[in-house]
Amino acid sequence: MPLAVPYWNGETYRAALQAVFHGRIVVGPEVAQLKSFILSRIDAADLLLCGSGSLALEIVLTSCGIGSDDEVVIPSFCCTAIVAPIVNLGAVPVFADVGDELNMTAANVADVLTDKSKAVIVPHLFGNPAEIEAIEKIARAKNISVVDDAAQALGATVEGRAAGSFGDAGIISFGAEKVCSGIGGGIAASRREHFFAGIELPRARSASALNFPSTLIRRRWRRWTFPLDSLLRPKAEPDEPPLSYRREGMANISAAVALTLIRTLDENIAARRERVRIYRELLGETKQLRLIAHRRGSACLTQVVRVLPRRSREDTAARIIDALRADGYEVQGSYVPIHLLPPYERWRRISLPNTENVWPDLIELPCEPEVSLRDAELIAGIVLRTIK
Ligand SMILES: Cc1ncc(COP(=O)(O)O)c(C=O)c1O
Repeated sequence: MPLAVPYWNGETYRAALQAVFHGRIVVGPEVAQLKSFILSRIDAADLLLCGSGSLALEIVLTSCGIGSDDEVVIPSFCCTAIVAPIVNLGAVPVFADVGDELNMTAANVADVLTDKSKAVIVPHLFGNPAEIEAIEKIARAKNISVVDDAAQALGATVEGRAAGSFGDAGIISFGAEKVCSGIGGGIAASRREHFFAGIELPRARSASALNFPSTLIRRRWRRWTFPLDSLLRPKAEPDEPPLSYRREGMANISAAVALTLIRTLDENIAARRERVRIYRELLGETKQLRLIAHRRGSACLTQVVRVLPRRSREDTAARIIDALRADGYEVQGSYVPIHLLPPYERWRRISLPNTENVWPDLIELPCEPEVSLRDAELIAGIVLRTIK
């Protein structure tokens, strides 16, 4: 069972192939259809469909007026993708700590604000809603923009309102390891009319079509292509932050794929919640484990588990990951805090106690619908056996 298998259906393949065979890779009707579908689910007055969630973040920051030397607060416990859009604008990422649920809290944000703070990006990690309303309150009082980063939380809600629709503007992603993993693409959304006025995106290139076979081979068919993994994976450059991302409008083929995924969003999230329920039922009472809580409205991207207590030299989290892999489940630990990664150390300011304390003991249990309920039970069983 490979990591994060995209939840595709027959319509997904059909939509991608039709876009190719009918010459609608770059331009076609699905872009407008996706736009109106999103508008029906998210409270927004202005939307921009982009080639990546990272570009959507850059556009939102630009529209918030972020530029050279402005400080943008982000959690250090997150994927590194959120740094590049800040740095590409000449702005400065400022790392904040996270709370018990591994999302940034209002207190974490307050701790790192300075006179130069101009924006806060609030991701809802693992699909789990962050306390964005409390963060907005603090930010508003200081005239700081708030970006609702729902890249990992499409379909999640906060008090009944869609994640991605808070703050000055929000973003969604259809990239890898997301609730709706398509062949890439992102959306910038704002409740303010004409928020993105004046932004012109370069037209998508027909090379976007290559994302379809590459996602098939590297993600959807990974079960069979896994032995080729090291050949297929582009080599990461360890000393430089990854500053490049797809800087163009969303290609019609990406919109066509995303549209098929978003139509099954409700069943996708229901399946993820069911897997979270199973993990909680089977592992929730175990003394050595702490299952990170999902709030009401969570999209339940994955179930993060903290392995306790950490005895010196004994890395139980790593042993659990090894045991799961030995039984055929490709499971991973969670993020290494960004401020501890060499390419990003230059922006490190203060120590972030919770982030630094918890990250080595975390594992992410898979919740995607492709993991059967039986698999979820087997995974929980392997975790328990390894601990014992
Ligand atoms: C929280 C968060 N924000 C933004 C992004 C960027 O999205 P994309 O991969 O579509 O560029 C990601 C991607 O992993 C993410 O996890």
